[in-house]
Amino acid sequence: MYPFQRNRRLRTNESIRSLVRENHVSADDLMMPLFIMEGENTQEEISSMPDYFRFSLDLLMDEIEKATKLGIKAVNIYCKVDADKKDNEGTEALNPNGLMQRSIRKIKENFPDVLVFTDVALDPYSSFGHDGVVEDGKILNDKTNEILAQMALSHAEVGADFIAPSDMMDGRILAIRETLENNGFSDVGIMSYTAKYASSFYGPFRNALDSAPGFGDKKTYQMDFANADEALHEAENDILEGADILMVKPGLAYLDVIYRLKEYSKLPIAVYQVSGEYAMLKSAAANGFLDFEKCLLEQMFAFKRAGASVINTYFAKEVAALVQ
Ligand code: PBG
Repeated sequence: MYPFQRNRRLRTNESIRSLVRENHVSADDLMMPLFIMEGENTQEEISSMPDYFRFSLDLLMDEIEKATKLGIKAVNIYCKVDADKKDNEGTEALNPNGLMQRSIRKIKENFPDVLVFTDVALDPYSSFGHDGVVEDGKILNDKTNEILAQMALSHAEVGADFIAPSDMMDGRILAIRETLENNGFSDVGIMSYTAKYASSFYGPFRNALDSAPGFGDKKTYQMDFANADEALHEAENDILEGADILMVKPGLAYLDVIYRLKEYSKLPIAVYQVSGEYAMLKSAAANGFLDFEKCLLEQMFAFKRAGASVINTYFAKEVAALVQ
C-alpha cells in the first residue's frame, strides 16, 4: 500500500527495469514463414505484403542464409502451386518431386540445423481453394485426412522436422501421427494449428499463394472467432491425438486464447502473427503513423507475456535484428 509500496521504484531506469523484466524476446523464439515458387533466380514481391517475397528455390537459400546469420533456427514453408497443377484432391501435393518435397530436401541439404516446419493443407493445391476435398459444396473431413496423412508422410520422407497442418479437419493430427509412426517416422513432430480461426486477417496470404476459396468461406472448418472455450476442446483433442506444439492463429487479436491454452496445457504454445497483421503494421509505418520498430517489439512481448514460446512471424528477420 502507498506510500510503502511505490511501484515506480522498479521503473526508475533501464537497469532496474531490465533486472525485474518478466519476459524476454530472442531469436530463439522465432519462426519464419517462407513462400516458395517455381523458377530460377526469381523473386516476386507480394502485392498485399510490401517487402515480403515469394522466392524461387535458389534464392530461397540466400534468404535462409540471412535468417540464420541473425540467429533464426526455424522456417515454416509454403509453396505456390501453378494453376494447371490444381485439382479437387490436391494430387500434386503427393508428388514426390513436387516443389514442396524439393524445397524440404534442398533446405535440409544446405542447412541441416535449420528446423523445417512444413505446411500440410490442401488449399494451395485445390482447384476450389479449400482445405479439403469438395463434394456437393461440402468439405469432406475423413477423405481429406487420408490425403493430409500421405502429404505429411511425403514431407517426412524428404527430411521435414515438423509437420504443420493448417487445415482444421477433425482428427487430422491422429491420422498424421499414426501414418508417421507406421512408417518409421516417430521422430518427426507435429505442430498443430490447434486454434485456427476463420479470420479475415488471412487476406494477404491468400493473395501470396493464389489460394482464396473459390466459393463460400472456411467457416465450416475454421473456428468461430466468437469462441474461446472451443479452443480448449480443440487442444484436448490435439494433445490426445499426438500434437507436440499447439498453435494459435491469428496472433494479436487472440492473446486471450494463447493465455488460456497455456494455462490448460503444458505443451509449448506457438502463435502465428498472420499476413493481415503484417500488412497493418507495415502500412501504418509506411504512412508515418507509428514507430515500426517500437510497435513491432511491443507486439512480440505481448505474445510472450500471453504465454507463447514460438512466434511465427513475417517480421522474423526484423525482430531478430532488433533483439540481437
Ligand atoms: C491455409 C492457410 C492460411 C494461412 C496459413 N495457411 C489461410 C487460410 O486458412 O485461408 C494464413 C496465413 C496468414 O494469413 O499469414 N491452409
